[in-house]
Amino acid sequence: MNSIPSCWAVVPAAGVGKRMLADRPKQYLPLAGKTVIEHTLSRLLASGAFAKVAVAISIEDPYWPELAIARHPDVITAPGGKERADSVLSALKTLQGLASGNDWVLVHDAARPCLTTSDIHLQIQTLKDDPVGGILALSSHDTLKQVEGDVITTTIDRKHIWRALTPQMFRYGLLRDALQQTEGNPAITDEASALELLGFKPKIVEGRPDNIKITRPDDLALAQFHMEQQT
Ligand code: CTP
Ligand code: MG
Repeated sequence: MNSIPSCWAVVPAAGVGKRMLADRPKQYLPLAGKTVIEHTLSRLLASGAFAKVAVAISIEDPYWPELAIARHPDVITAPGGKERADSVLSALKTLQGLASGNDWVLVHDAARPCLTTSDIHLQIQTLKDDPVGGILALSSHDTLKQVEGDVITTTIDRKHIWRALTPQMFRYGLLRDALQQTEGNPAITDEASALELLGFKPKIVEGRPDNIKITRPDDLALAQFHMEQQT
């Protein structure tokens, strides 16, 4: 008998945040009264969509044990890896024995604290009967140019171009196998690219533009603005 697949969240949070130029990894910077990662995890937990949230944390990270959310009963800590894909694979391995191969995993960057419950449910509802899964993405509003040096070589039809966001939602077994098979490949910068490389065809689901990734110093103020607009 096939049971209804559960959903699990995986949060890569083992990066150093080089581009943020701060005194600590960006997931621990303050934002609207909490750290960035506390917002991200609280939103995933509050959605009620996940059986557990597995978080990949650098083994040298002194900030994580200081947070109460690290001891939340639905939060599992996994050791981070060298690249983002290694951290995701490590977190998937901690779900071994809990998740079944057909279950869904939504991988979401710790550095995207403005994710809404509505986008989580939209993604799950849209993809729940899909054999492979897919990602939240944003269409492009600007006209897009391909360039060599500072010279335009062609204009790209923007209906074919989407910006990849997270969550990225795939079957547990398929995602773990895909990341294992593509381990060490520098071209794998998100989960979808691992599946694409193996010939699968992930879908896109149009997400909200306020689901930004905190990458550079100015992004913190932008995230704060989006949160104020959301409440
Ligand atoms: N990440 C991770 N393990 C790594 C590298 C990144 O878990 N070895 C996580 C980050 O913590 C972040 C997400 O992947 O939540 C997206 O990565 P990115 O925005 O590139 O974060 P950093 O790698 O920390 O930032 P930078 O590239 O500027 O150093
Ligand atoms: Mg990085």
